Amino acid sequence: MIIIREERKKDREAIRAVNEKAFGQPAEASIVDKLRKSCPALLSLVALDGDEVVGHILFSPAKIEGDSKAIEGMGLAPMAVQPAWQRQGIGTRLIKRGIEMLRSRGCPFIIVLGHAEYYPRFGFVSASGHGIASQWDGVPNEAFMILILDQSAMKGVSGVARYRDEFDEAMQE
Ligand SMILES: CC(C)(COP(=O)(O)OP(=O)(O)OC[C@H]1O[C@@H](n2cnc3c(N)ncnc32)[C@H](O)[C@@H]1OP(=O)(O)O)[C@@H](O)C(=O)NCCC(=O)NCCS
Repeated sequence: MIIIREERKKDREAIRAVNEKAFGQPAEASIVDKLRKSCPALLSLVALDGDEVVGHILFSPAKIEGDSKAIEGMGLAPMAVQPAWQRQGIGTRLIKRGIEMLRSRGCPFIIVLGHAEYYPRFGFVSASGHGIASQWDGVPNEAFMILILDQSAMKGVSGVARYRDEFDEAMQE
């Protein structure tokens, strides 16, 4: 049986391993480690089969800076399920739980950069349709998505969406 819960200190190494295995490189795992040190406002969930961490999802603060208004929400990244456990609904459960928790905390939006075939099933839509652009050049419109959780807080919000600086730093390494 798969259980989803917030990460605990003892999960850290296993979370690193799951990210490395799923992405086949250390960059995403390193972002998670970096953010854990520098950013207190994370939501980090693990999927467990018994004691084994088989999936992980991280949400960190993200902001949208428009001409007239700046607003803070969350960015989904990274998300990883161990290859042997993929396509069994674990990723779906991690995302749904994360969305539920952030909604109940009053988070106005979640952004994600990722597979355009995957995230719309959870309500994500192309951010460009809301006049919201990624901070990174060359990101295809359909890959940069937003889930609006608080319509009234998001009214009139447009501009550039930014993840925490740790994402940029990791990309330059
Ligand atoms: C993306 C990922 C987290 C999904 O986890 P999961 O537990 O396999 O997801 P679920 O079982 O809930 O959903 C499976 C669906 O995800 C989609 N999916 C999974 N991997 C995908 C991929 N690489 N590209 C596009 N869609 C993908 C498929 O539509 C699949 O549905 P199907 O089985 O009906 O075809 C997992 O595949 C993974 O760790 N991938 C490698 C790392 C990664 O790409 N992370 C996301 C960065 S945006």
